[in-house]
Amino acid sequence: MTKIWNSSERFDRSAAQWDENPRRRALAEHVAKAIMESVTPESSMRAMEFGCGTGLVTLALAPYLKSIAAIDTSEEMLSVLQKKIETLDIRNVQPILADLVHDTLSPVPSESIDFMCSSMTLHHIADTCALLEKLCGLLRPGGTLAMADLDREDGFFHDDGTEEVHHGFERPALQAMLEGAGFRNVAFRTVCEVKKNNRAGREAVYPIFLVTAIKA
Ligand SMILES: C[S@@+](CC[C@H](N)C(=O)[O-])C[C@H]1O[C@@H](n2cnc3c(N)ncnc32)[C@H](O)[C@@H]1O
Repeated sequence: MTKIWNSSERFDRSAAQWDENPRRRALAEHVAKAIMESVTPESSMRAMEFGCGTGLVTLALAPYLKSIAAIDTSEEMLSVLQKKIETLDIRNVQPILADLVHDTLSPVPSESIDFMCSSMTLHHIADTCALLEKLCGLLRPGGTLAMADLDREDGFFHDDGTEEVHHGFERPALQAMLEGAGFRNVAFRTVCEVKKNNRAGREAVYPIFLVTAIKA
């Protein structure tokens, strides 16, 4: 069977139930807290979350930012986010259906961005180096990137084995890729550990890192 990267259909299908998973909500809370501690968002900052899903992290950070563009390739994920925005009357979050990798769907904001973040999206992108170069190009010089993702894992983290993903990242290798893309001051911290009964039927522990870096 041919595996494919980033199936928008799969994310579309799981969007309505996405927030019902307590493990996902807890992870997003840990990530948002770690970003707040590491980056100190400011009310003057224009931000972007890449692969925002239903906005679990975006909405936690939005009150501390001037604005945040919430980018995703899944229409249904963004429609869940849009409903939250309307219900809560949030004015500074802009959901955008866009694919940063392939430059398809809508254009991404062209004004330079002060702060860019993502959570659990990097491992869904085939060409990590190309993505990091793209993110670096969108940030203003001195702007900050903060990404949370899996440390190198056993290959069984994802319940759906039909999708192509990176099985987490080795921190030194990711640091080298970030530096190669034009970032400096690369720093890692462990955000939390996800404990789950994995696809192989084993209780396993998956550490999640937050990496921060500055555009040189
Ligand atoms: C594992 S989910 C994480 C969602 C959210 N960050 C969270 O923590 O709940 C990955 C998200 O990245 C999105 N995504 C994957 N590839 C993308 C791309 N090239 N451009 C924009 N979004 C993408 C998917 O649609 C999905 O919503």
